[in-house]
Amino acid sequence: MPSALPLGLPAPEDGILPTDAAVGADARDFGLYVHIPFCAVRCGYCDFNTYTATELGGGASQDAYAGSVLTELGLGAVALERSGVPRRPMSTVFFGGGTPTLLPAEDLAAILRAATATWGLEPGAEVTTEANPDSVTPESLRILRDAGFTRVSFGMQSAVPHVLAVLDRTHAPERVPQAVQWARDAGLKVSLDLIYGTPGESIDDWRASLTTALSYGPDHISAYALIIEEGTRLASQIRRGQVPPIDDDDHADKYALADELLTAGGLHWYEVSNWARTPDDACRHNLAYWRGSDWWGAGPGAHSHVGGTRWWNVKHPRAYSTALDTGKSPAAGREILTTADRYVEDVMLRVRLREGLPTGKLAPAGRTAVAGLIADGLVEPAAAFAGRVVLTFRGRLLADAVVRRLLPD
Ligand SMILES: C[S@@+](CC[C@H](N)C(=O)[O-])C[C@H]1O[C@@H](n2cnc3c(N)ncnc32)[C@H](O)[C@@H]1O
Ligand code: SF4
Repeated sequence: MPSALPLGLPAPEDGILPTDAAVGADARDFGLYVHIPFCAVRCGYCDFNTYTATELGGGASQDAYAGSVLTELGLGAVALERSGVPRRPMSTVFFGGGTPTLLPAEDLAAILRAATATWGLEPGAEVTTEANPDSVTPESLRILRDAGFTRVSFGMQSAVPHVLAVLDRTHAPERVPQAVQWARDAGLKVSLDLIYGTPGESIDDWRASLTTALSYGPDHISAYALIIEEGTRLASQIRRGQVPPIDDDDHADKYALADELLTAGGLHWYEVSNWARTPDDACRHNLAYWRGSDWWGAGPGAHSHVGGTRWWNVKHPRAYSTALDTGKSPAAGREILTTADRYVEDVMLRVRLREGLPTGKLAPAGRTAVAGLIADGLVEPAAAFAGRVVLTFRGRLLADAVVRRLLPD
């Protein structure tokens, strides 16, 4: 079951933004996120805004979906222009889901073409799609590459069959190296998503997943601790005692092993949960989120942010296409971030980056906390003296606690 949307202010039907959103826009990057809310099967741990064919029921078809996104892009371009936000070419585009590659590659290509015709695409822009290993073919990957995609991020999760089974993953482990090879042959960069801390996963299982993932030579790996989301099948299996609960200490040991093996394998952390082979292989789209850039988020439940105004679309694909069919913005609500909100977000997100948080961005109370964080081994002393708060390895394990100390009440 997908999680709920935030509450917020009502969003205007014409999508016009407050005047402040345009201030300084010329100096900010602009990106596009396209949400594809379809999956062949819902994994038991996932509460993303995604629907199987059975969950969708009638009236919201995958076939018509690309057309709805094109309509949103058209309305979006008009709304930005009428809000006085200058047109900037896209620096990054990210198709996420759900499972974007459940749609025909031609549909994803058509959306990218329309977005490029609307806003333009910077030379050398990063264009990523997420994919399940069993939802691509050599042909579909070639079509994506020819259309301008540069990168594919596969949900590998684990290399161990009993772990994949608890996660309800449908792909056979041997499908992953095949899909990686097809992506490389097509000329795409490859990222792999891994999950650690699945109930029943031993430290040796996790070691096997890491070494197997590294043996495929990806450019990038994301490793996330499994979150047990309320309302998911996995949460109720744990509550009923059918699956053992997760253990936070186990998460710390597994994070440490990930960092050790990924670093030894030639990947370097650039965000607490993300490792890249070279600085060029870091996900520029996610970096843009973490640095507070502007992006349009198209699709049901997608969030957007332009110059301190954030809005989010209605969640269900049917409500989404109905709004667009009647010429209205599909936005369900929005919030205008105050200076204080933006400060909190900036600290929370930037401190997780290897490049660190400039100390000059900290309020006096945060700056005062830095000495204690150095003394506790959570922040790198040399970086702090050079004007940036950069987490040590121990700091990465305790990143949330570091944020709380940098943001005292
Ligand atoms: C939209 S999915 C990726 C693409 C594709 N649908 C797939 O699963 O292969 C994005 C990623 O979110 C992560 N994810 C989803 N639910 C999670 C959870 N409850 N805990 C940790 N990671 C999660 C998974 O690693 C997944 O690969
Ligand atoms: S395939 Fe990906 S998006 Fe779909 S349910 Fe599984 S983890 Fe979630």
